[in-house]
Amino acid sequence: MVPNTLALVSSTKGCALLRDVQPEDILGRKPVGHHRGVDLTPVIGKVTLVTGAAGSIGSELVRQLRAYQPARLILLDNNESGLHDLVTELGDEACSNTVSVLADITREEALSQVFAWYRPQVIFHAAAYKHVPMLERYPHEAVRVNIYGTWLLAGLAQAHGAERFVLISTDKAVEPSCIMGASKRLCELSMFALARQNGCETRFTSVRFGNVFGSRGSVVPTFNRQIEQGGPVTVTHREMTRFFMTTSEAVNLVIHAACLTAGGDLFMLKMGEDIRIVDLAERMIRMRGLRPYKDIEIRFTGIRPGEKLHERLENASEVATQTTHPNIVRLDDPGDAFDPTAFADRVTRLIASCNPRCAVCQADGARLPPAVADAAPHDDARSPCLGCLTSLAETLAPNDPVHQILWAQATGARSDVS
Ligand SMILES: NC(=O)c1ccc[n+]([C@@H]2O[C@H](COP(=O)([O-])OP(=O)(O)OC[C@H]3O[C@@H](n4cnc5c(N)ncnc54)[C@H](O)[C@@H]3O)[C@@H](O)[C@H]2O)c1
Repeated sequence: MVPNTLALVSSTKGCALLRDVQPEDILGRKPVGHHRGVDLTPVIGKVTLVTGAAGSIGSELVRQLRAYQPARLILLDNNESGLHDLVTELGDEACSNTVSVLADITREEALSQVFAWYRPQVIFHAAAYKHVPMLERYPHEAVRVNIYGTWLLAGLAQAHGAERFVLISTDKAVEPSCIMGASKRLCELSMFALARQNGCETRFTSVRFGNVFGSRGSVVPTFNRQIEQGGPVTVTHREMTRFFMTTSEAVNLVIHAACLTAGGDLFMLKMGEDIRIVDLAERMIRMRGLRPYKDIEIRFTGIRPGEKLHERLENASEVATQTTHPNIVRLDDPGDAFDPTAFADRVTRLIASCNPRCAVCQADGARLPPAVADAAPHDDARSPCLGCLTSLAETLAPNDPVHQILWAQATGARSDVS
């Protein structure tokens, strides 16, 4: 990190002189190791499926899970190049027990074949759409990939007797202000609904956490690139904060949480204090030996649709209980009036509505609200029926933000960003 002063002085741009800032430089902490308080045998020697394996979280799961001697490690993603890159990175020694599956989690036939053939015992579900402004423009894709894909996958896991199913969730599911967050909250609720079914043998669980450094499209690689180019560094809002963790740290804890679950749990990873994004930007600039606002401009671009100024890791009604792992807590909602049967019924009907002809109301392909439809051309045949979206919203209390977001999507009304 020490600058080469001669190069610094003689450089015209001055900012390509230091190496990229790494997550540990900012967090000042090392990735956590195995915790002796957690019995890791539930994930050792298993047939393990990782969805979204080509993504930031999924690929790190794959890297770490290899140390748990999986009987077979199935890497599933619909990103062909990403999957290819990962397999190349893993190298030849991984070939014997690693299988890459190029498949879409919303394609039932392909998924059924994967389950029937490989019979995964442990599933880490990291495949998702995650970019908030993008999904505000394409809400039906959030429903299709995040809700439908999760429900389909979880149903197959249960039908094929999987032992554990771990949903990777996000702090954006907490009192969500966007369709992405609402869709992930519905995924968490899906885990509850499935776990509470009579005779459910699969341990469904969710693990919720905030941002990981270095993931695709996240601030650290973006700021590194912007500083490299001489600025400006773009920050949406001066007061915006986020929780951060390294990807390896988060994934290590996800694997521990997978072992801790008795089924029907919602775990939250402890992420320390939240960080102001502008502080992060300033720090990253200084770490390059440059002065914020003088050598490198910081430009405030404005909060984007669906974004919050501050994220939270737990709902006001959720109560945290410490697990045997110091960095993992279990969240329970004592006043939870959630009806899993009604939810399961509505979500099933919503999914049926993803077909060109809605199974509930028999309408031809559903229509997005005009405001969204104008802005975002889409494939009508795969849109959810908005009547069914509304019906799903109605399973939740009117003051529940998920209800409000689904309602707003269904009616075309925009919810305010907090
Ligand atoms: N990155 C973070 O900071 C972070 C933090 C907390 C939670 N999460 C959550 O973790 C999940 C994964 O995030 P990520 O950062 O790894 O995202 P990512 O975009 O890097 O990875 C997601 C992967 O899922 C795949 N995918 C998407 N749709 C698919 C489909 N229909 N079928 C098969 N594969 C599909 C993509 O190709 C991609 O490889 C998201 O739900 C996100 O909300 C991410």
